[in-house]
Amino acid sequence: KKAEIGVIGMAVMGKNLALNIERNGHTVAIYNRTDARTKKVVEDHPDKNLVASYDLSDFVASIEQPRRIILMVQAGAGTDSVIDQLLPLLAQGDILIDGGNTFFEDTIRRSKKLDASGINFIGMGVSGGELGALNGPSMMPGGQKSAYDQLADIFEQMAAKADDGKPCVTYVGPNGAGHYVKMIHNGIEYGDMELIAETYNILRNLLGLSVEECAEVFKTWDQGELKSYLIEITADILTRKDDLGSGTPIVDLIVDEAANKGTGKWSSENALELGVPQSVITESVYARYISFLKSERVAASKQLSGPKVEPVSEDEKKELIDLLEKSLYFSKVMSYAQGFEQIKTASDHYDWNINYGDMAKIWRSGCIIRAEFLQNITDAFTRNPDLKNLLLDPYFKNIADQYQDSLRKVVSIAIKAGIPVPVLAAGITYYDSYRSAVLPANLIQAQRDYFGAHTYQRVDREGTFHYPWYPEQ
Ligand code: 6PG
Repeated sequence: KKAEIGVIGMAVMGKNLALNIERNGHTVAIYNRTDARTKKVVEDHPDKNLVASYDLSDFVASIEQPRRIILMVQAGAGTDSVIDQLLPLLAQGDILIDGGNTFFEDTIRRSKKLDASGINFIGMGVSGGELGALNGPSMMPGGQKSAYDQLADIFEQMAAKADDGKPCVTYVGPNGAGHYVKMIHNGIEYGDMELIAETYNILRNLLGLSVEECAEVFKTWDQGELKSYLIEITADILTRKDDLGSGTPIVDLIVDEAANKGTGKWSSENALELGVPQSVITESVYARYISFLKSERVAASKQLSGPKVEPVSEDEKKELIDLLEKSLYFSKVMSYAQGFEQIKTASDHYDWNINYGDMAKIWRSGCIIRAEFLQNITDAFTRNPDLKNLLLDPYFKNIADQYQDSLRKVVSIAIKAGIPVPVLAAGITYYDSYRSAVLPANLIQAQRDYFGAHTYQRVDREGTFHYPWYPEQ
């Protein structure tokens, strides 16, 4: 019997996706560039319906037509090379699915190239890490709708299910739309992680809580409206001690340099490109960059002074923990408001016709940013599918009314104490800019006109104006 679908790339994500599909009752063809990996998968799973091949043409031949082949290989040159090797072996109507963290412009390029040979191409964001891939990820596929329709059944079986039972997968849009949405997902992931980290820093260094006490705080928050995967794993991480036996919390032994593989940076670059204010994600990318200046920071810490952190009383601690819970929640709102605004702008710009509400829906479960909060966003877009900005939805407007004071206080206290809060600050600053009918941009326009005759518009009449700044003009 031929395999119903194939997976290329037997590193952990590819292997786990293959096992996920198999568990859902399908025969899966598998292939890896180096044989050893494939052999290992077969040895470890002797009773599974896996058809292993050690030659690419055998692999292609083992799959029923039209073929459905998922690529889980190194994003970038690795993907191009596999596609080039596959092309002569494929037939018109076959469907290639790239499930890697691919830059959406590469997907657009590959989609065009494959189109010329009559091969369908789906660029699919897959979120949820190793366990998600195995047990149910959130999946963001983009490409030909007709090709998606031939995959929908398998994808819906594989995907995580939200609380209402709905699978966390949907057709996102043409060509690069799926990878684009995954890129924004990752940008939001950066923002969420940095917001948690800044909050943790305040708990430890302003409130003076121990790592264990911080774990308790996050555990409590995970029962409330912040309930989410990232809060849950944070609470768990903070309970873990050194695996090498020193007894110290492991977090205190990890070097404070946050690495990245580029997806957050792509989100920011694209926001700049499209002219979308996306300060929360961008500041979280910068926060990772500044973390990497470790030796400079250590040297500067010996030379540059800051305020002295005053001890906080027990009563104040309780109150501050409450403020921090609200400020974390409200700053998340700004992050998602910006992320969705960017998806909306991109959808128009690239002509993708993305259903924004559906994106919130498929992020409710399976992915790294999964959270109760995503149901509130889903509801907001259900109430108004054309919602301009999340902040304008009645639920979030109410959150803003109730929680903005907490965020303001947290940011002021942190700044006063010299604790860096770039992303919390970006959140409240965005809120204040967005709700300002008048910004001092008029002065910028005047300056531009002054030094470069760049002209300006007036508030009281139509037309373009240039002011006689210099007497000789
Ligand atoms: C996911 C994650 C994942 C990503 C890592 C690493 O949704 O499962 O986003 O795809 O690769 O989180 O990202 P950074 O190395 O850039 O932090």
